[in-house]
Amino acid sequence: MNIPIDQDMLVKLIEDPLVFAESLLIEPFTQQPFRANHVQRIVLSAVRDHDRVAVRVSRQTGKTYGMTVICLWGALRAPNQSVLVVAPDKSKVKTIIDNIDRFLDSNPILARSIVARHGSPYYERKFSNGSRIAGFTLGSRTKRHGESVRSQSADMVVIDEAAYVADEDWRAVNPIIEGGLYRPKTKAVVASTPALASGRFYEIFHNSSLDSVWHRIHVPITENPDFADRVDQIRASCPNDLEWITEFLAEFPDSGVGVFRQSDVHRALAEFVYNFRRARYEVAMGVDWDKYEAGVNIAVVQFNRESGVYELIYREEVQRTEMVLTEAVRRIVELTDLIPNVRAVYVDRGYGDMQLEMLHQEGYRRPSTGLDKKVVGWSFNQKVDVRDPVTGEMVKKRLKDAMISLFQHILEEHRFQFPKTDHQLYRQLLGYHVVSLTQSGPRYNKEGDHVIDAICLALWALRDLEPVFRQAPVGQPMLLPITSSSDGGLHIRPPSSSSSPISLPLMEEKGQMVRRSFAIPGMRSRSFGSGGSRRVF
Ligand SMILES: Nc1ncnc2c1ncn2[C@@H]1O[C@H](COP(=O)(O)OP(=O)(O)O)[C@@H](O)[C@H]1O
Ligand SMILES: [Mg+2]
Repeated sequence: MNIPIDQDMLVKLIEDPLVFAESLLIEPFTQQPFRANHVQRIVLSAVRDHDRVAVRVSRQTGKTYGMTVICLWGALRAPNQSVLVVAPDKSKVKTIIDNIDRFLDSNPILARSIVARHGSPYYERKFSNGSRIAGFTLGSRTKRHGESVRSQSADMVVIDEAAYVADEDWRAVNPIIEGGLYRPKTKAVVASTPALASGRFYEIFHNSSLDSVWHRIHVPITENPDFADRVDQIRASCPNDLEWITEFLAEFPDSGVGVFRQSDVHRALAEFVYNFRRARYEVAMGVDWDKYEAGVNIAVVQFNRESGVYELIYREEVQRTEMVLTEAVRRIVELTDLIPNVRAVYVDRGYGDMQLEMLHQEGYRRPSTGLDKKVVGWSFNQKVDVRDPVTGEMVKKRLKDAMISLFQHILEEHRFQFPKTDHQLYRQLLGYHVVSLTQSGPRYNKEGDHVIDAICLALWALRDLEPVFRQAPVGQPMLLPITSSSDGGLHIRPPSSSSSPISLPLMEEKGQMVRRSFAIPGMRSRSFGSGGSRRVF
């Protein structure tokens, strides 16, 4: 770097990442000199003064950007530095490497200092001063357990999304952080929004024996002046309390507490009974298959345009038998014949596509049913687009999390109703809780999971049917809080058009086990034996 700088300034650039960043870096998007935000100032100053810095701050606060700056400082502050960037998945590492490239390319002085860029076998940037920045993905997801990073040594280790790093991966990284004989002063900076209330990242913040080791930074959004004028709006559009707690207050969640608030579930109890005749508006059906435990759950939800309420107007469980999946297909066909205003049938693909195929075949055979178009298969792990409460942009979320989040949101707004006589569902909603938080998302308790999934699929279908519903904020998995939730939340407006009520012929009585034979043209008719029974609630 051949810029005229005096000795004092040079020392500051070397010693102080904040001075380095604000003196040398050009923000790639604005092409203006980089200015650290509130959290970045705290973090960069801490990195100057401490060897171990752990950061938990809210989402979209500039953590990743800050880590990028730290990497650049780490490589340029002295010759022959080795900087390792580590993240739980490749895209996160690539984001930092891309940011590094953009910062380098935005300043001709820095651009000249780069001598090599590699993308394989790992991301690497080499500098004319002999330093390097290398990016690694940790291996637990690929069962390689941080293998590739294990052989590395470093003067600085930067871990982004550190709460999502598995413990076995920490074991690979720890020796590098500890530095060893030749690099005793390795700096480590780890940052994340919290996820699990366990694991290494959690321990760094909660284990008192680490008090003197790690310098900890925690800035909830409510204490971040950069967000002062937006906190209320973000809180209001945050789809659920878990997201608010983890992603914005940057607190570790309490696992094991309920998903749905008791008061919300209680207010969802309605006077009506399960009855097809209630199907007057847009109706969607959700189907969750479970061959081994719960049987097949079918939920029929209608969006009542007049009240703006989602009504669970019917549900049943096709009981577990050898033929339960086939019987359920038969029953779905029958139900969609009985309720002609079923606009969509969203089914879980967890048991393969056979049932989906059978339902589609029925649609081809009898085009008037529209089943080939109405029936859509979903995998709970697939990613769906939902709106981010901070940026307003569409982001990808796991369907299961987004669906549960939507259900919770609708419940919170008191816009979901089911018959108060369905004590089983009431109990299941109250008892539904997160048993563990995993890297791919929360795992819920088994009891009630299937009926809740069926309801969620129906709600998701209604959301898809009407573009207005898509604005309903849905986001991360949820888990009820320690704090009480505000009444905030975007309100989902009912769609403007209205449809004329229709009446339907059949009414089921609640609480009865019904046995009957179904004869669906074109499908092998069989009578339900003991296993073919279904419980109508
Ligand atoms: N100091 C800054 N100046 C300009 N833009 C910034 C700054 N810090 C962050 N950003 C931008 O803000 C957005 C969010 O930052 P990011 O680092 O991805 O947040 P986080 O990792 O906390 O979610 C990014 O698009 C980034 O480009
Ligand atoms: Mg980030």
